[in-house]
Amino acid sequence: MATRTSTTGILSEGKTSEREEIIELLKKAYWMEIETVMSYISNSINPDGVRAQEIIESLQEDVQEELGHAQQFASRIKELYGVVPGSLEFSAEQSYLQPPEQQTDIVHVIKGVIEAETGAIEHYNRIIEVTDGVDFVTQDMVIEILRDEEGHRRLFEGYLREYEAEGLA
Ligand SMILES: [Fe+2]
Ligand SMILES: [Fe+2]
Repeated sequence: MATRTSTTGILSEGKTSEREEIIELLKKAYWMEIETVMSYISNSINPDGVRAQEIIESLQEDVQEELGHAQQFASRIKELYGVVPGSLEFSAEQSYLQPPEQQTDIVHVIKGVIEAETGAIEHYNRIIEVTDGVDFVTQDMVIEILRDEEGHRRLFEGYLREYEAEGLA
């Protein structure tokens, strides 16, 4: 009984090396989202003070969005015949989103979020370039996620501007 395999597109046998490259990029994206979920949970709970409330609410919403991104990256890894990695393969990188010394230091949190979003934006632009003409489905998915990250960064740039205008950042 012959198994029906795709002869065109990214799932075809001839595209194995392209798939492997894309899967590696998707795994990195998956870990970035997972670490962002962790960092945004802590930074949506730790901050103190009246001015922290907007940031707290904003990051609480983002936790759910970033978790959704992680799930999308994981699904796409599987669709490309990859395996979603286990937790032992995780290694943390977001030194800039560790809790500040003072929990009223909102500028630290805002700058950390901007750095995390910028990292995601750079990596997702790379995936969009690599998948161009090769894997339109991954490309389409990542374009949509990229828009979310650009929105997140823009929002936090706005917060930072307010602190800069007051000479606090
Ligand atoms: Fe995300
Ligand atoms: Fe984001």
